[in-house]
Amino acid sequence: MKIPRHVAIIMDGNGRWAKRRGLPRIKGHQRGAQVLHNTVKWSLELGIEYLTAYSFSTENWKRPKEEVEFLMNLFIQMVDREMELLKKERVRVKILGRKKGLPENVLKKWNEVEEKTCNFDRMTLIIAFNYGGRKEILDAVESIIGEVRNGKEVILTEEIFRRYLYLPDVPDPDLIIRTSGEMRLSNFLIWQSAYSELYFTKRLWPDFTKKDFLRAIESYSKRERRFGGLSDG
Ligand code: FPP
Repeated sequence: MKIPRHVAIIMDGNGRWAKRRGLPRIKGHQRGAQVLHNTVKWSLELGIEYLTAYSFSTENWKRPKEEVEFLMNLFIQMVDREMELLKKERVRVKILGRKKGLPENVLKKWNEVEEKTCNFDRMTLIIAFNYGGRKEILDAVESIIGEVRNGKEVILTEEIFRRYLYLPDVPDPDLIIRTSGEMRLSNFLIWQSAYSELYFTKRLWPDFTKKDFLRAIESYSKRERRFGGLSDG
């Protein structure tokens, strides 16, 4: 199988999973966090180099206060809970998103997990948190305007522009998976997904299994990527 170097996942359907069971939405997120833990393990087994998980979007602030608070705390708990696995498997963590607007305790964990794992090199796990693709592009434009105002000459090419994104050294995702049957990107990696292969499954995120993951990778494996060029044969 051809293994994608970078897989990004929109982990959707936690709320519906909980609702179908008559449970509060947060139970779906709890279970979803466990599935994310499993996905890290499957990715390590397959030799995937970068795994990105959309965990909290800049639009998620619109949710009820209790749910937002729960997701903030889940971020902190997950970092604490997963530290052992990260060390054992040499996984580097990077957080993708806007620091502005996040509570102090979340920012502290953000810095802590990045610092503690920065020398690990087996895989990079990217947690998109307080992330929005359009905001990322606006933030990049704002940085460029700032530099130009300070007298720097910026010649805009695609390569130069990407250096102003939040994580310029991370390669674009080869495969984006979205669960729960929705077929849209919802402001995820807008710049980076230009040539990504997309895979949609009806499975709700808390029910996502290794078999589902392998099915997505297998589908990717069979696709021919031309990046606007012509096929070889
Ligand atoms: C989308 O489902 C899911 C989220 C907004 C949160 C995803 C979080 C996790 C899977 C846990 C990992 C979390 C952290 C903080 C690392 P939804 O709530 O939109 O589901 P619905 O569409 O069925 O309502």
